[in-house]
Amino acid sequence: MSKRVLLATEKPFAAPAVKGIEEIFSKAGYELIKLESYQEKADLLKAVENVDAMIIRSDKADKEVIEATKNLKIVVRAGAGYDNIDLETATAKNVVAMNTPGQNSNAVAELVIGMMIYLARGKYNGKSGSELRGKKIGIHAYGNVGRFVANIAKGFGMEVYAYDPFVAKAKMEAEGIKVVDKMEDLYKKCEYVSLHLPKTKETVNSINYDLLSLMPKGATLINTARKEVVCEKSIVKIMTERKDFRYATDIAPDNNDEMMDKFADRYFATPKKMGAQTEEANVNAGLASANQIVNFFEKGDITFKVNK
Ligand code: 3PG
Repeated sequence: MSKRVLLATEKPFAAPAVKGIEEIFSKAGYELIKLESYQEKADLLKAVENVDAMIIRSDKADKEVIEATKNLKIVVRAGAGYDNIDLETATAKNVVAMNTPGQNSNAVAELVIGMMIYLARGKYNGKSGSELRGKKIGIHAYGNVGRFVANIAKGFGMEVYAYDPFVAKAKMEAEGIKVVDKMEDLYKKCEYVSLHLPKTKETVNSINYDLLSLMPKGATLINTARKEVVCEKSIVKIMTERKDFRYATDIAPDNNDEMMDKFADRYFATPKKMGAQTEEANVNAGLASANQIVNFFEKGDITFKVNK
């Protein structure tokens, strides 16, 4: 029987990505239902009711959403972080959850570099700024995005350090990275730290005052991971104490107004998460999601499954 797939994207993909997704499902004989730019959770709850599969971005597939489905077999997060899916409920309902690792990583990495330059040049305020060349950058978690950031940073003449207890040291060193064994050392050494850790119980608020106060003069923290991993109170405290400290984050934190009032000249936040928002990343992640769904139903392929 023909499958029904929901594309639920509050922040829609670029048109070529949607076209590519349509083509993949049309070739497979599946029906595609699009729920783009929706405003209300109620719309999502209604749309998921009778579908066999769904593609989401940062859209929340929480308990209520998953439990509202009658036939759902697979949910694919078109992207890397899957903290927006309630994995326990998915597993309990026999729903396979997947992500599309690596597909949007370059887009995020380019935004990291863009934000670094923007802050190094004082948000283009006309005054003398600084350069990236010769500075040290610390990659906090060396996954797909971290690796892309490292490569681009090398091209800028930066010294690249990384901390990641889950990646073999030899592998990172083989890629020309200076590996530190202790997280604190990354912050002690590097003027720039770029965060790439997932949002988990352990990482929420883990980037705190104690860690940030280790950073050398001219410190810049770049957060394209999740806003929740950075402790908001700590950022306010360190930036109040240190006039040299800069912070850029991809998606405004809850205390954005306070940050703008106090630190507008050395703070930047995107109003909507922009890291993966390029046509190329949309096409890569969108088409990968569609192909993963077809391969799941047609071949039982569960590569990229993230729940138990
Ligand atoms: C990811 O985890 O892949 C990124 O945060 C992208 O999120 P988005 O699809 O909402 O842009």
